This record gives sequence, C-alpha cells and structure tokens, in this order.
Amino acid sequence: MEELKSDALAEVAAAASSAALKEVEVRWLGKKGRLTALLKGLKDLAPDERKLRGKALNLLKKDLVEAIGSKGAELQRAEVEASTEGEWVDVTLPGIEPAAGGLHPLTQVMEDVEEVFRGMGYHVMDYPEAEDEFHNFESLNIPADHPARDIQDTFYLTDGNLLRTHTSSGQVRAMRNLEPPFRAIFIGRVYRFEATDASHEHTFHQIEGLMIDRNVSVAHLRSSMTQLLAGVFGRKVEVRLRPGYFPFVEPGFELDLRCMVCGGKGCPVCKNSGWVEFLGCGLVHPNVIRAGGLDPSEWEGWAFGVGLSRLVMMKYEIDDIRWLMSGDLRFLRQF
Ligand code: PHE
Repeated sequence: MEELKSDALAEVAAAASSAALKEVEVRWLGKKGRLTALLKGLKDLAPDERKLRGKALNLLKKDLVEAIGSKGAELQRAEVEASTEGEWVDVTLPGIEPAAGGLHPLTQVMEDVEEVFRGMGYHVMDYPEAEDEFHNFESLNIPADHPARDIQDTFYLTDGNLLRTHTSSGQVRAMRNLEPPFRAIFIGRVYRFEATDASHEHTFHQIEGLMIDRNVSVAHLRSSMTQLLAGVFGRKVEVRLRPGYFPFVEPGFELDLRCMVCGGKGCPVCKNSGWVEFLGCGLVHPNVIRAGGLDPSEWEGWAFGVGLSRLVMMKYEIDDIRWLMSGDLRFLRQF
C-alpha cells in the first residue's frame, strides 16, 4: 500500500503541466485506472480482508485526489503567469498625445470676415465652384465674343461648364434668391488658368459683396468700402480709388490698399509700388440688374470683389501667395 502511494504521489509531483497531470489522474483514477481496478477487485475478497483493504484504498484515493487538486492549482497559476508574461499593460504610463490639427489661415480669416459682415446685416451665401457660362460671364454683361473673356483665363470642364473665375458668378444667383433691398456676401475658391508667381495663383479665394437698393451712388460705395475694410482689418486702412474696367459695373473702380507687408516701402507683394491692388468694385451695371430679374429703373446696387488670399497675406505679412495652397506643414503650423 505504501509503495502504491509513493508511486502515485511521485507521478503527481513529476507532472510538468496541467495536461500531464490529467494523464496521471486518468492513469490512476480513470475508468480503467490502477486504483479504480483495485477498488473494483474488493468485491472478490473475503469480508474481513475487504474491509481492511477497502479502508486503506479509500484513504489512498483521498490522498491522491487531494494531491492532484493542489498540484493542479499550482500548475494552473504558473501557466496563467507564463501566458500573460509580455502581455501586461502599465496603466500608469502617460498616453500618446493625439496630433491636433488647426484651421487653415484662409479659413480663419474667412470666418472672421463672415462674422464682421453678419454683424452688419449681410446675408452670407454660398454658390457653386463649378459654374455655367451664363452665371460666370453672360449674366455679367460678358457675351461670348466679348474681349473681357480673355482677361480671365478660364478652366473649362468637359461638360461645357467651367470653374468659376470670380465670385461675381454669384451676383445674379443672389438677385434671384433674395428679396431686394438686400446686402449679401459670398466667399469661396476661384480658379484661373495662369502662370503663378509671388502674387498670382491658379487657385485662390475671393469675397464678393453685393448690395441692391434704391438710389445707390458712388459716394455710398466709397463710404461702404472704407467702413467694411476698417471692420475687416480692425483698424483704419489707407486706400485709393482708380478707374477700373469690369463689364458688370458702371462706373467701375480699382481700390488699392497701402501695402501692409512693407508699409509702403516696396516689397515683392506690392511689386515695389507701396500699393496693393486690393479689390474691384463699382455700381452694378443695368444689364446685370436685368439678368437678376429686377427692373434697373427701380433697383440699383454696388458690388465688390476682394482677393481673400491677398487679405490673408496682408494680415499675416506673407510674401508669397503660393504658400497658401502649398499644404506645407512648416508654413501651416505657424497658424
Ligand atoms: N470679379 C472681379 C474680379 O474677379 C472683381 C469685381 C467684383 C469687380 C465686383 C467689380 C465688382 O476681378
């Protein structure tokens, strides 16, 4: 009995894994196990001997079950520890800081400008970048054979439409959308097929302003422009008006702004003149009023178009327009 016991316990102690221990258990206590066979054999013995042996065998079985149980728990603990080794997480480690983005300077200034105009009672409209010839040209008093079409080198789309060359393409849309009298601005991306340099880009942004009312004069246009620019820049600005030609305004003007990059001394942005051509403006041409579905004998208006890109350059003293669309993070991270 002692030999049997030390055999069994030695096998339990030698089991190196839960699986090996299971085999030991089956070998001794399974249906065909050694101890099971001995217990089954009891019934063939004489009653006295059966009692004696039965007691000893059951004691052995109890010891064996206990030994297997504690060995099993020990093996399992070791196995769990081994499997989680290398998988643990130190919850006290600092996290990975997410890379936060920012708003593009064009977007920042666009939102500022919208705020200023909203505060002055302007509608803020949004019109398509892919336009038809009617809205970009014809409705603006630029018929198909008009030489003014050459002023704006146009990207044509294969379906006969085009990428708008200016935000003026929204003027007639606004007249048809809004009940006069009204004041509206529309801001967005415009495209021109042209060679690029420090002050020209094929893709840039404009802000269009349009006011339709009765009895609008050049004096009104001039005072509105001065007030608007002061609002946008948050300070007084020096401007000058020159006659300018745009088929959709009469009279038309070029408004120049004292260069804020160099303060008027001369730099690449102002092409050393001290002035930057800042916006085109004028009184809305009667043909455009008519295209907008209004009667020019009753309704008049003024319109202006500003390069938003140029405004951003003035504000942040950026000396090359091509930075804006470059997507260069060294540039963008400064904002
Ligand atoms: N659309 C003109 C341009 O792109 C600017 C402009 C707008 C001029 C409105 C007069 C009136 O240059």
